Order: sequence, then C-alpha cells, then structure tokens
Amino acid sequence: MSESTASPPANAAWGGRFAGRPAEIMERINASIDFDKRLFAEDIAGSKAHCAMLVRQKILSAEDGEAIAGGLEQILGEILAGKFVFKRAHEDIHMNVEQRLAELIGPAAGRLHTARSRNDQVATDFRLWLRNAIDRGDRQMQALQAALLGQAERHAATVMPGFTHLQIAQPVTFGHHLLAYVEMLGRDRGRMADCRKRLNECPLGSAALAGTSFPIDRHATAAALGFDRPTANSLDAVSDRDFALEYMAAAAIAGVHLSRFAEEIILWCSDGFRFVALSDAFTSGSSIMPQKRNPDAAELVRAKTGRLAGALVGLLTVMKGLPLAYGKDMQEDKEPSFEVADTLELCLAATMGMVLDLTANEAAMRAAAERGFSTATDLADWLVRVLGLPFREAHHVTGSLVKRAEERGVQLAQLSLAEMQAIDQRITNPVFDVLDVASSVASRTSFGGTAPENVERAVANARERFL
Ligand code: ARG
Repeated sequence: MSESTASPPANAAWGGRFAGRPAEIMERINASIDFDKRLFAEDIAGSKAHCAMLVRQKILSAEDGEAIAGGLEQILGEILAGKFVFKRAHEDIHMNVEQRLAELIGPAAGRLHTARSRNDQVATDFRLWLRNAIDRGDRQMQALQAALLGQAERHAATVMPGFTHLQIAQPVTFGHHLLAYVEMLGRDRGRMADCRKRLNECPLGSAALAGTSFPIDRHATAAALGFDRPTANSLDAVSDRDFALEYMAAAAIAGVHLSRFAEEIILWCSDGFRFVALSDAFTSGSSIMPQKRNPDAAELVRAKTGRLAGALVGLLTVMKGLPLAYGKDMQEDKEPSFEVADTLELCLAATMGMVLDLTANEAAMRAAAERGFSTATDLADWLVRVLGLPFREAHHVTGSLVKRAEERGVQLAQLSLAEMQAIDQRITNPVFDVLDVASSVASRTSFGGTAPENVERAVANARERFL
C-alpha cells in the first residue's frame, strides 16, 4: 500500500502530487480566503449555474447534480448565518466551498469541478461581484444627483461669486454651480455603464486556459448568470483584469469629482467664505477650541480619493508585463477592488448626506459676489454693446474704472457717472443697470449659462436625463 493512500492527502485538491504540507509562511502568502470570502454569493451562484449546465449536457448525473445544488444551497445558508468556518488551509473561497461540499455530500462534490478551473471560476465570480458593485454605485450616484438637483432648484436664483484662479471672476448662481457636479456625476455613471457593458461577458468554461474537451454549453451558463455572452477567447478570459482596472479608473475619476466638491464645501464653510453651513450631523468640534465646527466628513471625502487613485495604480502595476495566461499575481486584484468599492460607496453616501444637510448663506454669497468687481465683464460688454467699442478697448476702459474704484475703496456701482465719464466721456447712465450682480446673472442666458431661468430649465432637463 502506497504512502498516499495510507494517510490523508496533504491537500484535498492536489494531494495526488503533493505529499508535504506547505510552510506556514507559504500558506500565509498564498491564501486569499481572508478577503475573497466576500465573493461567496457569486461563487455559489457560479457553481450552481455550472452544475445545472453539466446535468443538462449529461456530463453530470441528475442525482449528483441535485446533491451538489442542495449542498451549495446549504453552504450559502451557513455563510449568511455566520456559521461557516472559513479555513486558510483551503486557501480561497472556491476551495473552502468545495471542501465543505465534500463534507456535506461526499465524493459527488468532486464532480462539480468537471470542465472548469479556479481560473475561470475566479474571473467569473469577480466579474459578478464588480457588476453588483457598479449597480450599487450607480444607484448612489443617481441619488446624489437627485439631492444636488433639489438644492439647485432651491437656489436657481441665489447669487454667488464664480471663481477662476480662486479669485472672484463673475457672479453665478449657486444652483448653476451645483449643476456642474450633476454633469460630472452623469459622466461618472456613463463611464461605469461602459465598464459594465464590457465586463458583462462570462469566462466560465474557459477552464484553466485552453477551454475543455467536455461538451459544455457556455452560452447557457452565461445566460443563467445574467451575462450578455460567453467570452470569446479562453486565454484572454482567465487573464483579463481590464474590467477591474476600468472600474477603478472610473471610480478614481468619480472620486476626483467628489474630492473637488468636498474641497469647495470646506472652503465655503471656512471663515473667509461662510457661504454654507453644515449642521452638527456633518461636523465635529474641537477638544480644545470651543468655537470650532470642523467639516471632517468633507475633509475625509477629499482625502479618500487618494485610496482610489492608489488602488488603480497598484493593480495597473500588478498587471503590467504579466505573460498569458493566469498568474497568481492576479490574486492581488481583489483587495484594491474591494477597497475602491467600499471607499467610493462611503464617499458617495457622505457627500449625499452633506448635500442634503447644507444650508446656503445667501446674504454672504451675495455680499461676496458684490465684492471683487465681479461685474467688470458686464461693464466691458456694455461698452461693446451700447457704445460700439471694440472689446479690447472696452477691456482697457473697464480696467481703468476698476483701478479708480479700487483707489477709492468702492464698488464699481458706487462710482458716480461723472467719475466714470472722467475716464471715458461716452459712458451714460444706463451703465448702472449692468453693474448689479442679479442683472449680471440674469443676462447670462446663453445655452449652458448661469441665468436663473436657464438653471430652472437645466434642472428639469437633468431630471429627464438622469433620474
Ligand atoms: N484565489 C485565486 C485568485 O484569486 C483563485 C485562482 C487560483 N488559480 C490557480 N491556478 N492557483 O486568483
């Protein structure tokens, strides 16, 4: 009697070839169960679809198929109930499930792995998991758009300074400013939808790398799992992680948008601005300075974008230069992807909370818009429109008027007509109509411009497009 049949194999999956046990450190570096257990539902769904297909194709008996399906169902229940014991010795989610299946139904469990490999199995599970993550993220982004649209509608005519170089540039409406983020989120959702479309092909049945000699029906498993079609090339199917990279890239860009918005919230809450206030629900106090109200949630959204970008660069680096087909390197795809999904979801939820929570300080916004000669462009435009000056000359005249106002420490509207005429005698009284910030924004009716009537229309249009 040989050694291998006398004692239990060192490893149930490859014990035929292996007599020794892995070193403790080998087990530690090799095992992915600590994180890939998050794939349990997808793993079991994939196995059930595979099993049903094997029965239909008469590769597996109906009896074994039933036993396997029943066992998988029980395992799902055990995991959901928190009763399943995940074991590092079984390396990953695929083998943990299979080993438990063997405990539950005996040797028939070993037939489930016919015509598949962990390579196509993990690629399938991971695509299913990310597809769900994309769908969750899309719902959250849509909800955030809805929240922004609510505030934009409320503040369609609320005047605030618009900035370039963080210098007051021209008056805009707060609603218009918020709508800018609705557009960004729309593109973020579009990128995720594109990623989902390309991701939605099923690797199952590609087996280890070359396909299989069993008469499987890959179209059936693809359809059963909600994929649009099976992947076309078995080598590509087990070695492609583009879908994770695309997801992370889209998430990193979305994170950049959330981070920019977070930064604006932080600025707007600061003493120099006071444009908005967040309630106790989204701020924290200081343990030493009783007057403080810190926008911690916004600061953390701003910061967490670093994780999103870092995860993307990390996986790009893992994948770079990997020869076809599968390499264990690719096991490193999951932790950063999970981290990205978790971080993005947290940031979207926190941003949504802040948008619903924030109150605008309309008086402070308007006062700031009135400072900083924000209607200087309106004045120059008036000189062009009414007096027929070339824009460059109008710009020059306006510059002199701004200089004069600055010297006197007043706003443009506070200069007298005589003072204006001292700089250009052609100026007449109606110029004062365009120096007011409300008339400035009201005049910006060009398509996509900031006028309150535009904002109202844009809100309705965005609701049509996005909600
Ligand atoms: N845990 C592995 C992973 O996440 C599953 C695939 C293992 N395949 C293999 N040939 N060792 O990539």
